[in-house]
Amino acid sequence: MHVAFNLPIADVDKARAVGRRYAELYDKLWDEDEAMMVQRQAVLSAPRKKRKRQPVSLGTIAEVLASLPLSVEIGGETFRVLEVEGRLLAHSVLCPHMQGPLDTEPLQGLEVACPWHGYRFDLATGKSCDGRKLRLRPAPNVVICQGKDEIRLEWPAAPAR
Ligand code: FES
Repeated sequence: MHVAFNLPIADVDKARAVGRRYAELYDKLWDEDEAMMVQRQAVLSAPRKKRKRQPVSLGTIAEVLASLPLSVEIGGETFRVLEVEGRLLAHSVLCPHMQGPLDTEPLQGLEVACPWHGYRFDLATGKSCDGRKLRLRPAPNVVICQGKDEIRLEWPAAPAR
């Protein structure tokens, strides 16, 4: 592949210096884009396992609270469990747009922004915060079982048909 930059700079030395910088930036962007595409393809190619709907114990209350945020895999899908604004939440770590990672960026309150294209989602509802017709994949509820000294993930009951 051949990439050329046409710069309106008369000074040859200055044009070469700017060209080198452009080439470095181009290399960096290419590598970042390639890594994102490799990750996305790995997610899309992974075999889909049937999601288990049984409760999943995360450990004792003290253990879980001390280890947040937690990454939990259930049925081939990864969820992040974290405390936000005094609430324990679980959410899918995959952006519904193009499978970008939603567990790498700091939160803005209950909102998470995808680092790939900036789409934002409400972690409590899974809905788009910027008016898009996308929502996060369903996530289990985080349930504190005081009597059993346990925190676990439980799927909400399926809506009646
Ligand atoms: S992949 Fe997340 S916004 Fe595009």
